[in-house]
Amino acid sequence: MQQLKKVVLAYSGGVDTSVCIPYLKDKYEFSEVIAFVADLGQGEDLEKIKQKALNSGATNSIIANLVDDFAKKYAFPAIRANALYGNKYPLSTALARPLIAQNLVNTARELGADAVAHGCTGKGNDQVRFDLAINALGPDLKIITPAREWDMSREEAILYGEKFGIPAPVSKKSPYSIDVNLLGRSIEAGLLEDLMNEPDEDVFAMTSSIEDAPDYPEDIEIVFKNGFPVAINNDFLNPVSIVQKANLLAGKHGFGRIDMVEDRVVGIKSREIYETPGLLLLIKAHKELESLTLNPDVRDFKEIIEKKWGQLVYQGFWFGPLKTALDSFIDSTQRSVNGKVKIRLQKGNAIIIGRSSENNSLYREDLATYSKDDIFNHKYAEGFIYMWGMSNKIWAEQNSKK
Ligand code: ARG
Repeated sequence: MQQLKKVVLAYSGGVDTSVCIPYLKDKYEFSEVIAFVADLGQGEDLEKIKQKALNSGATNSIIANLVDDFAKKYAFPAIRANALYGNKYPLSTALARPLIAQNLVNTARELGADAVAHGCTGKGNDQVRFDLAINALGPDLKIITPAREWDMSREEAILYGEKFGIPAPVSKKSPYSIDVNLLGRSIEAGLLEDLMNEPDEDVFAMTSSIEDAPDYPEDIEIVFKNGFPVAINNDFLNPVSIVQKANLLAGKHGFGRIDMVEDRVVGIKSREIYETPGLLLLIKAHKELESLTLNPDVRDFKEIIEKKWGQLVYQGFWFGPLKTALDSFIDSTQRSVNGKVKIRLQKGNAIIIGRSSENNSLYREDLATYSKDDIFNHKYAEGFIYMWGMSNKIWAEQNSKK
């Protein structure tokens, strides 16, 4: 077998990915390990993480700012798709993985690396998302996954790292496993593994508790263009700022927490707490505008597409032919999703209180009204119902004989 020399590692700064660095050199004899640090708006000190990679023995470390792409090319399509896995989770973590994978592959190409690596374990969804995306974009690249093969407990991994000069974590490790980016936070493990344990208030960082949320309501307006949110309260903003603003508004009022049991790709159920205030708010508003601007058959069918889209993204098929085909469907439906939605935020709620569309509204007041301006022809209803219910009537007659 050809000797592998250079590997690009997706690096988060945690103990596990740090230990991956000496492992890749020791066990795989890589002469160069490049630590790739993705900025996804997680708000950490990335220079410090980069330094940590170098201190852990990386030959080089690269920080890539992916946050604009994340909002524009990943979060925004998810809003158009009203994507909610299990009808609840807006895929805040799942959406980040194909983007990281894409940039890992690009970096591997630029640097002439033979392999890419990540620190995912063998029982999560993220390994699936990384591996599938890497296989789709760089099928010739070898994928190395130390945490899937090394069979070390956390304590053993720390000891192994110490042998190579990686200091054991000083602060007591958080009892939870947390993933953070621009779109939200995912919190699992620890006390949450008992499904009846309510999460402590300190697991949350983006959303206020209902108790601490202000008593007063705050009404906001979200403007959409072709199904993409473009303004909040008449502030026209870029995608990242839209998400940030939505996060702040919804989070302040305690909207956007999720507690769910989900079905991982590897076949096990797991309990996860999410807080994704902005994304949930934007999806809610988007759905509302679609109710005004899409034909009923399109809307109905789009729900099927949405469900499948969410499953594909959750299950790692971002760069797959079905996902691409569904994107075309969604794209063609969104040309008429223009207008705005009014929402009241208060005490954990985001209540729709209005919607309008200048050029794409399918609502006709002259047809809907109960006033004297009504132009609907009531006489046609009888003939319509005669045929609409014909088969049902025949069935009822047949059955009443018995
Ligand atoms: N279960 C979620 C998903 O599959 C998120 C996992 C994120 N990791 C974490 N440590 N909470 O997208």
